[in-house]
Amino acid sequence: MKKGLRSRLAQYGDEEFALFLRRGFLKGAGFTDDALERPIVGVLSTASDFNPCHKTAPQVAEAVARGVRMGGGLPFVFPTVSLHEAFSFPTSMLLRNLMAMDVEEMVRALPLDAVVLIGGCDKTIPAELMGAISANMPAIVVPVGSMLAGRHEGARLGACTDCRRLWAAYRAGTLDGDNLNRAHDQLMPTSGTCMVMGTASTMACMAETLGFMLPGAATAPAVSSDRVRIAEATGRRALEMAVAGGPRPRDILTPAALRNASVVLQAISGSTNALVHLAAIAGRAGLTYDLGELDRVGRDTPVLLDLKPAGGGFMEDFHAGGSLPALWRRLRKHLDLSARTVSGETLGEIIARWPSYVDDKVIRPLDNPIVRNEAIAILAGSLAPQGAAIKLAAATPELFQHEGPAVVFDSLADLEQRIDSPQLNATPQSVMVLRNAGPIGAPGMPEAGALPIPKKLGSRGLKDMVRISDARMSGTAFGTVVLHVSPEAAAGGPLALVRDGDLIRLDAAARRLDLKVDEAELGRRRAGWRPPEKPARGYARLYAERVTQAERGCDFDFLTERP
Ligand code: FES
Repeated sequence: MKKGLRSRLAQYGDEEFALFLRRGFLKGAGFTDDALERPIVGVLSTASDFNPCHKTAPQVAEAVARGVRMGGGLPFVFPTVSLHEAFSFPTSMLLRNLMAMDVEEMVRALPLDAVVLIGGCDKTIPAELMGAISANMPAIVVPVGSMLAGRHEGARLGACTDCRRLWAAYRAGTLDGDNLNRAHDQLMPTSGTCMVMGTASTMACMAETLGFMLPGAATAPAVSSDRVRIAEATGRRALEMAVAGGPRPRDILTPAALRNASVVLQAISGSTNALVHLAAIAGRAGLTYDLGELDRVGRDTPVLLDLKPAGGGFMEDFHAGGSLPALWRRLRKHLDLSARTVSGETLGEIIARWPSYVDDKVIRPLDNPIVRNEAIAILAGSLAPQGAAIKLAAATPELFQHEGPAVVFDSLADLEQRIDSPQLNATPQSVMVLRNAGPIGAPGMPEAGALPIPKKLGSRGLKDMVRISDARMSGTAFGTVVLHVSPEAAAGGPLALVRDGDLIRLDAAARRLDLKVDEAELGRRRAGWRPPEKPARGYARLYAERVTQAERGCDFDFLTERP
């Protein structure tokens, strides 16, 4: 197989001419013949002024490039689509597949022998892995790293768990505008990704557990020197992979690696968004992410990590407390230690050489967990025939078993219009239902599942109630929230048939979610149901026509490889 500049030549019908031309342009950029003979490592940068979480991506790319040069290789930094949670209308999830296609096609098209994927903000690492697995080019991930925790009037603050907490207090009238503004300056005090166990931190931990990062890479803060050193080491390792031609992503992503990811996801009380991303990542390698297995391993895996929102700490505490390999060591009886990683070592070999220090307060021993039970459970029932998810670690135990009348919102616009209406017919016993917010319905399955508590109940002190939707929820959010209901309403799932006042029963222990309406009545309602209109054109149209449901990762059906 041709390597370096000789690989993937533009097709003019004359390969020697194509190489002559390619080399000529680089000579024009000042490269010597010696440089042009070296193996090439692509450094995929997601730096963008619209992505403040990735403010340090250029510094990370520079350190990766230094590592490549130290080993005698040639680094080429190149851009891709970059997604920030708060800057992507209508939701970054809609664009994850676009970014994955960009990554896959650029990695396939460019003359590189290995690629370093610089990601971080929620959808970026999943998109990079999806693209790299499809391209099956030697690939290694280095995250930009997380923010440091903020400090405000004696409290440590973290995005976005405390953003939500403070906003809820402001809505309920228990926090005034001045205080909110002062805290606002401290919520995101440095560059980097959200420093609680939200989706960015979760997916960094998932990528490292799957084997796609150097050990310790998931936790180093964005502004730490560790982050820069890890980036340099990543560049050196990527060059070794370029020369050796592997390992390739499909050597790393195995059923055992996916099972390990499920164990760690439960032990860190990770974001439920990981369920969708892991399903999409697995699908790119022709594997199925087993939600039943995630549920089963959860029953044996307590939450060991004391990070917000399940606990009280931040990513910098996790890093200083021993980092992810120290957590793996705690979980070693539950993990397949023979799983390979891009470092060339197995999980077991990394654990064996990792420093023995561990901060017991942050990475708890198995007999003193932060939450005794599983973090995430998978539900099924007449309201969710293909499944739904609930983050028990962020929910109210008194609501784990609950039956109440539905208050239905037909769309995000309907929710926004009526949620704070004094006329809303909601009580603390109500079950709030949001539909047409799934992959097809929204489209893009936004993080709207944690519906706000109606003002009229919140102002009386109500903090939580059962909420159900076909949407997702931010990993930084909390509440008794059932998500990813499948099939979604826009695909004709039972969620589309619920009416105000229908009884819904949640039984988390029995893993059930049921709509207590008889089949004959549902049949009558189904006969009158019409699917909502799809977007008229462009990428949104493609998305709504070809996106899969949550349990298959919301990937495009033509990009997944079925087993
Ligand atoms: Fe970028 Fe939270 S918004 S990681």
